[in-house]
Amino acid sequence: MGVTAVASWLSLGEGSTPLVPARALSESLSCELHLKCEGLNPTGSFKDRGMVVAVQRAVQSGARSVVCASTGNTAASAAAYAARAGLQAVILTPAGATAGPKRAQARAVGARVLEVRGTFDDALRLCRELGERDGFTVVNSLNPDRIEGQKTVAGELIEQLGGAPDVVALPFGGGGNVTAVARGFEEAGASPRIVVGEAEERATTWASAIRIGVPAHAERVAELVAAGRVEVVRLTEEQLRAAWERLAREEGAFCEPASAAGLAALELCDESTLAGKVAVAILTGHGLKDPDAVPQPVDAVVEPTLEAVLEVLS
Ligand code: F0G
Repeated sequence: MGVTAVASWLSLGEGSTPLVPARALSESLSCELHLKCEGLNPTGSFKDRGMVVAVQRAVQSGARSVVCASTGNTAASAAAYAARAGLQAVILTPAGATAGPKRAQARAVGARVLEVRGTFDDALRLCRELGERDGFTVVNSLNPDRIEGQKTVAGELIEQLGGAPDVVALPFGGGGNVTAVARGFEEAGASPRIVVGEAEERATTWASAIRIGVPAHAERVAELVAAGRVEVVRLTEEQLRAAWERLAREEGAFCEPASAAGLAALELCDESTLAGKVAVAILTGHGLKDPDAVPQPVDAVVEPTLEAVLEVLS
């Protein structure tokens, strides 16, 4: 099912996100870099493209509930579409490890949010177990409908650029998005170099959205690497944080920490990979998803006088 087949009663207007030129970063990477702002999807992350398809299919198959394990974004997306479809959403999150705004999004639209005393990997195991019960449909990216919807970003990029980019960079958490992006380009007859960034410290990374010990799509990603279509770059915490800061400060692009993994990976590529090339970094989630990533939201507290303001600015 292509995304064109999404029922209008269910759609929240996913996709058609802005592709913006990154002037400062292009200069320092000696390429033509564009940022694909997937955080501007309806629930603030790229997950909506695939979730709308998966929830529509769940309705068609007679499900009563959708269930997912999530570091937050899948949860917010599943919850929103389930609300529109009149389904119950059951969310399993690793305790104490997800950003508050994402849980709030899910709860606001009526999902049952359960914190599991364990890791994301524990939550995913429980999700699969629950999915075997009658009436529950798993809407993690193990669900092939998610991948089908998510792959539309590739065709959209080709349309926006007037041709395929040479290089596409994105984060690698569970690997669903890598799988989807690779499939989307393949089906469009394009073969850009796909560079994906994963946290070296997978299970504990600062970027909570990709705090995943064992990627569910590890096998598929390994196949893509073996076929020379995907390159995996391992990132230190410092590299991730530095890329996130550069996006914000040099481009005004405030994304959540995990979303900077694509740029961080590009920064570690050989010069020949990028020189003179058209590159896209997919920014997967909005910065407001994880405001606590900003260590100090004010510079100073001042008295209401001009002198006090000027003193701080001097
Ligand atoms: N970026 C963001 C903002 C994410 O939320 C995720 C995954 C990824 C990148 C990685 O994508 O797993 O397909 O490789 N978030 C999932 C969630 C795990 O539950 O929201 P992936």
